[in-house]
Order: sequence, then structure tokens, then C-alpha cells
Amino acid sequence: MNLSDRLMKIIKFVKEDTIILDVGTDHGYVPIYIVEKNICKKAIASDVSRNSLKKTIELIKKKGLEENISSRLGDGLDVIRPYEVDGVIMAGMGGILIQNILKKDKKITDSINYFIFQPMVASKELRKYLSQNNYKIVDEELSKEDNKFYEIIYAKRGKEDVKKEIYYEISEKLIEKNHPLLKEFVEDKIKSVKSVIDVLKEKKSKRSIERYNELNKLLDE
Ligand SMILES: C[S@@+](CC[C@H](N)C(=O)[O-])C[C@H]1O[C@@H](n2cnc3c(N)ncnc32)[C@H](O)[C@@H]1O
Repeated sequence: MNLSDRLMKIIKFVKEDTIILDVGTDHGYVPIYIVEKNICKKAIASDVSRNSLKKTIELIKKKGLEENISSRLGDGLDVIRPYEVDGVIMAGMGGILIQNILKKDKKITDSINYFIFQPMVASKELRKYLSQNNYKIVDEELSKEDNKFYEIIYAKRGKEDVKKEIYYEISEKLIEKNHPLLKEFVEDKIKSVKSVIDVLKEKKSKRSIERYNELNKLLDE
């Protein structure tokens, strides 16, 4: 099975011989790949949508991997017991939904050794939540598919000292490793901030003026 660059970069963070839960698996590609390639012996594929999970179950059956991959229907981490898995993937979901899933049951969240997140939106809010709730970002990756960037965050429990506000927006990990897509990613962000500034500069409301000033400060940073 050939997977996209985004999914391969998510898989790169999966630790060998761990038990992994893929929350919101949809098609089931990630747990199937991990088990087929022997990266992990066991995985759990979950989704809150019955239809999505049906696709996964069919593919698992077709591949003959029912012994190694368990499929579970349910919301977020409700599908596992504390210490049942080592790592959790949450990809293709919003950063706020990811936060809400993490917050729901601390006993389960605290029992997980590592997390791989790929927020579709609100990555800044997710990074802020992580640093304020005793998670530390260990590494990050960037992927670009069809002109869209995807941020992939590898996190563990632990303290993190985020030195500048801008690092919630643009990961310090990507800067440290001078990621090959970083320049393009930052240029793309600058372009979208500038287009919002252009709209806001015509507006006169208090909130628009505040936002205009915030975005100009962000642009400077
Ligand atoms: C866009 S798909 C992403 C699929 C896959 N993870 C990927 O990255 O390609 C999002 C999936 O998350 C599932 N989902 C949304 N909210 C969820 C929740 N609270 N718990 C579990 N799954 C959820 C949806 O049903 C959908 O299948």
C-alpha cells in the first residue's frame, strides 16, 4: 500500500513495537500500514462514524489483519482503557477537537506515552494548549500536498518553555532543523496574513482595528 507524504510523515513518528491507537482513522490506512510493515504488532483503529469504521473493517478483513488490528466505534479516547496503548495518533482533525479529546479523561490521557497530532486548523491553539498543560513538543514535520501544508506534531508529557509567542504559530522545532519546506510555509502564512490585513484596513470597528494591529505585529515577528 502506497501512502501519501502526509501519512508517511505521521508514520515516521510511530515508535517500533508499541501499541498504537489511530483516533479518527476513517480509511484505516495508517494502522494497516504500520502492522503490514511490522512497525508495530498491534494497533487499534477507531472512529466516531459508523460508516468510516465500516470502510476500515472491510480493508482490515481484505488484508487478513483482524488478529492484529482491533476496530472500535467511539468518541476520541473513550475506546481505550488506561495503559492499553503506548501511542495515539489524531490526524486530519481540528486542533480544538484534539484538545477536547485530550481533556475528556485525564486518567486515560496521562497513561499515554506519546502523541502524534496533525491538526487541519488551529495548530497555534493546539501548541498553546500543549505547552500550558504539561505536554512537550519533541519534534515536528511539515508536509505539502496539492499546495496545502500539513503540520505534524510529535509530543510527550513534560515541561516546555516556549520562548516566543510566534513559536505557537511557527514551530521552533521546524526552525531548529531548518526544515526544507519552512521558507515556503512561512511565505504562505505571510501571504494569507497580508490578505486579511488588506480587508481589515478598510474597516472601522474597534475589533477590526484591534485585529489589524495584532496581525501587523504578527507579520513583523
Ligand atoms: C478527515 S478524516 C481524517 C482521517 C485520517 N485520520 C487521516 O488523517 O487521513 C477525520 C475523521 O475523524 C473522525 N472523527 C471526528 N471526530 C471524532 C471523534 N471525536 N472521535 C473519533 N473520530 C472522530 C471522522 O469521523 C473522520 O473519519
